[in-house]
Amino acid sequence: MKNDLTVNGDTFEIMISEQKIKDRVKELADEINADYAGKVPVFIGILNGSFIFFADLIREITIDCEVDFLKLSSYGDAKISSGNVRLLKDLNCQVTGRDIIIVEDIVDSGLSMQYIRELILRQNPTSFKVVTLLYKPASIKSNIQLDYVGFTIDPEFVIGYGLDYAQRVRNLKAIYRMKS
Ligand code: IMP
Ligand code: MG
Repeated sequence: MKNDLTVNGDTFEIMISEQKIKDRVKELADEINADYAGKVPVFIGILNGSFIFFADLIREITIDCEVDFLKLSSYGDAKISSGNVRLLKDLNCQVTGRDIIIVEDIVDSGLSMQYIRELILRQNPTSFKVVTLLYKPASIKSNIQLDYVGFTIDPEFVIGYGLDYAQRVRNLKAIYRMKS
């Protein structure tokens, strides 16, 4: 009870602790380090939501790599995905002939990821893989492949560790779920 918090009038409870996130991020990085040994992939973070996951993941990456960012918008301030994806900031890096790893906070409907996939594949990368911290399989509305998944969760609204509720609470260290 004492761990509950109220945001925009809704109550949230802890779902994934700071330590659990940290341990899982390290496991994901270890897998990526092994899979990309000898390569120099480009990690592309999807702003804004992935910024904390991205920063923690990249510091566990021990192979040579580059980073870049894409900024998308689909939610506005709502809790349900509009499915209407807009590109707010394009890449600076060259995609052609590179090993691309997309870093997302959460895949919900998957429509953002489908948009990103089409955008990147048009530029002929050598390879294209996706790492997402969270995945809601019951919400999926597209046919996309996720290569590294941190946690598979129920289709509930979650906040913290980069994930916002109407732009707030991205700074929380743990992930919280909305109480029904
Ligand atoms: P999708 O296109 O429906 O897969 O949604 C992708 C984006 O919506 C994610 O990158 C998040 O920024 C945001 N999103 C999806 N589910 C949640 C949630 O439960 N809390 C906060 N943001 C979310
Ligand atoms: Mg996002």
